[in-house]
Amino acid sequence: MNVYTTKTDMRNRISSLIREGKSIGFVPTMGFLHEGHLSLVEHARKENEIVVMSIFVNPAQFGPTEDFDTYPRDFERDAKMAETAGVDIIFHPSAEEMYPFDGGIQIIAGNQSKALCGASRPGHFDGVLKVIAKLFHIVSPSRAYFGMKDAQQLAIVETFVRDYDFPVEIRRVPIVREGDGVAKSSRNVRLTDLERQEAPIIYQALSKGMEEYLTTQDVQKTIHVVAAKIEENSSGKIDYVSLLDYPSLQPANEDTEQVLLATAVYFEKVRLIDNIIMSTK
Ligand code: PAJ
Repeated sequence: MNVYTTKTDMRNRISSLIREGKSIGFVPTMGFLHEGHLSLVEHARKENEIVVMSIFVNPAQFGPTEDFDTYPRDFERDAKMAETAGVDIIFHPSAEEMYPFDGGIQIIAGNQSKALCGASRPGHFDGVLKVIAKLFHIVSPSRAYFGMKDAQQLAIVETFVRDYDFPVEIRRVPIVREGDGVAKSSRNVRLTDLERQEAPIIYQALSKGMEEYLTTQDVQKTIHVVAAKIEENSSGKIDYVSLLDYPSLQPANEDTEQVLLATAVYFEKVRLIDNIIMSTK
């Protein structure tokens, strides 16, 4: 496995791989890897000759009061896990390498960024699209792999790629969970022991909510069921519970084929997100 820290080294290697006609599967991450990330790698391995992973905690997608400084990082551990999982190349740039100049041009995520996490994290998805545009230009992937854990991010990236003709196929990968249902996340290490014991209620609440929706089609009642279960059984404070059409992220209507039921919950030091997507037809 090779590790490149500069755009030039990364591009040179990619150019020769492309000359050799190799397909490139790309897994963008912020590191502190877990089985969720490794599942993206597994999917990428199956469909591509070369797997590139980026590990970059992207400052552009964190708000001024968010957890950029305390976001967990352990590159040595990540590199070992990535190699064992079959990653061929890691791109691990510094912030200065990625953002040497600010030319003042902005990418603004569209309507899909108004709901859910976009509503509570202003500018977050603009920052995600900024780094994704750069990474896609640097890595030139044939296919890029994104987890359904971040369903809104995935929907916005799909729109970006379609609207701006990035020559890459976006692949959706299902959420990987712990045995007790908690969605794997790099941020789970920041839960206290008690919060970790409470965390399975999030997925249980979403599952109960989805049952409610599929029986009653009542959005408000569904949201209430989820919020009440989380509030009654944990110390978490609800940021949002929403039910929307997926992937438009607009209110569900009679044409909706897939609904997303999503929540974000604040614990003392960490905000967790989770969701369930179901077909309604
Ligand atoms: P990060 O949170 O490290 O996640 C990297 C990828 O792993 C994302 O596509 C995310 O959806 C996926 N992922 C995380 N937990 C998962 C789980 N439990 N099951 C399945 N997939 C999971 O998302 C980001 O980084 C950044 O925003 C990034 C796209 C790298 C841009 O900076």
